[in-house]
Amino acid sequence: MKTELRSNWSNAVLVCAKCSKRVDGGFGDKGRTPLAKALRRHLKLRKGRKGAAGVVEVKCLGVCPRDAVVVVNGAESRTWHLVRPASDLDEVAAAVGLSEDRTSPERGGGPPA
Ligand code: FES
Repeated sequence: MKTELRSNWSNAVLVCAKCSKRVDGGFGDKGRTPLAKALRRHLKLRKGRKGAAGVVEVKCLGVCPRDAVVVVNGAESRTWHLVRPASDLDEVAAAVGLSEDRTSPERGGGPPA
């Protein structure tokens, strides 16, 4: 059995699923899309490990802000982000380290060599 797998992720971002539920999604046209899904769609990320970056919903991170979603970039774990519903997704992506140039193939976001 294999003990390792390759992935195309240049980055992994954790998004609190419970926060997303508490703000009733908060993103997308109707404001009902969860942040993780909205970010994946906005950045045109493929599903699973084939995507240029990973956006993963996780359980409650213990911060539980009143009107925001907690997001943690795995590579910058010392700074956690509180994202307000309906925030601009370009700004959110840049803030959490998922801006498009970081997830593009030229910047290491493509398939492994
Ligand atoms: S509900 Fe998101 S951190 Fe607790």
